[in-house]
Amino acid sequence: MVGLAADWLTSAANTNMFTYEIAPVFVLLEYVTLRKMREMVGWPGGCGDGIFSPGGAISNMYAMLIARFKMFPEVKEKGMAAIPRLVAFTSEHSHFSVKKGAAALGIGTDSVILIRCDERGKMIPSDLERRIVEAKQKGFVPFLVSATAGTTVYGAFDPLIAIADICKKYKVWMHVDGAWGGGLLMSRKHKWKLNGIERANSVTWNPHKMMGVPLQCSALLVREEGLMQSCNQMHASYLFQQDKHYDLSYDTGDKALQCGRHVDVFKLWLMWRAKGTTGFEAQIDKCLELAEYLYNKIKNREGYEMVFDGKPQHTNVCFWYIPPSLRGMEDSEERTSRLMKVAPVIKARMMEYGTTMVSYQPLGDKVNFFRMVISNPAATHQDIDFLIDEIERLGQDL
Ligand SMILES: Cc1ncc(COP(=O)(O)O)c(C=O)c1O
Repeated sequence: MVGLAADWLTSAANTNMFTYEIAPVFVLLEYVTLRKMREMVGWPGGCGDGIFSPGGAISNMYAMLIARFKMFPEVKEKGMAAIPRLVAFTSEHSHFSVKKGAAALGIGTDSVILIRCDERGKMIPSDLERRIVEAKQKGFVPFLVSATAGTTVYGAFDPLIAIADICKKYKVWMHVDGAWGGGLLMSRKHKWKLNGIERANSVTWNPHKMMGVPLQCSALLVREEGLMQSCNQMHASYLFQQDKHYDLSYDTGDKALQCGRHVDVFKLWLMWRAKGTTGFEAQIDKCLELAEYLYNKIKNREGYEMVFDGKPQHTNVCFWYIPPSLRGMEDSEERTSRLMKVAPVIKARMMEYGTTMVSYQPLGDKVNFFRMVISNPAATHQDIDFLIDEIERLGQDL
């Protein structure tokens, strides 16, 4: 309700984030909120820079843009032809936006090297190091490692400390895509999963995911102050006049890629004021507890197979429902091809009945499995019970 009220007020004000004179209060709120988020990441005194961008995909692209500029500032004027062949590294389970950013920035998707993951979906640091060395031997320049804190499908947290050591050794920019997992920084119980994030050069954190802030609300946080400004500024003289009567550092618009920029901060700021960090913490802990409840309920239940062993680290619970006709059947091509069709049919039936909905996907060599993700703090244990009943009701004849 608080987020919704703030969203309404934001629309009523209908202003623009490019200059202080046009959005003085919102610019100041962005300043304090980003500082607070950087503090929670663990950067001393909340120092650094950042911006609210139109989503995690764009925040990740900003990180790539700034990392490239840090290494080769001349790229801004001269373009890619003036610099050596760059390569970025991210895990095979990372979000597709890393590749999309590379395509948009002219780096190319072939220059994004996918690092192997372990069975829990975490990046394997030794494979990262091996691929960095290999790329250097080929004459490429490694400029960015994008680690993920909370992968989209498994909800896995990459080992950030080991990755930070490698980035330091090879002098590569370390980005942490915490679009999904960043919210866990609010929780005393779960924030250890992001240990090492304080060593990142940049972090993506989407309050519009786990923290329930109305869309859109995504922050890109950067450790080094001033870099975003030099990377993106164009000094448009009709907006950023240098002879204004106030402190020009509050005209933050020129560090964005956009000209006009939506006010995304107010929803988050007002929700944070209303419920406090402990309120967000309770909300997040509850969602994780519900995910654990689901996991405990199905892990040994007849007709279910977990996609990976052990308790999920985030709220992603990945599983197959095995209908009675497939139970006890040996692992064979026929079983695999029939199992592949189970989740899509159950989901389609859920949509037809209009009772509930749960996402599915294949991943690597794993055929379609359900991925239940809980981010709505209004969800209850009864909702989870209902989901299981519904899967069984709709899938028993398959
Ligand atoms: C890990 C991760 N990064 C980035 C994104 C993209 O975020 P957005 O949808 O806000 O662009 C997602 C979206 O699911 C994600 O899971």
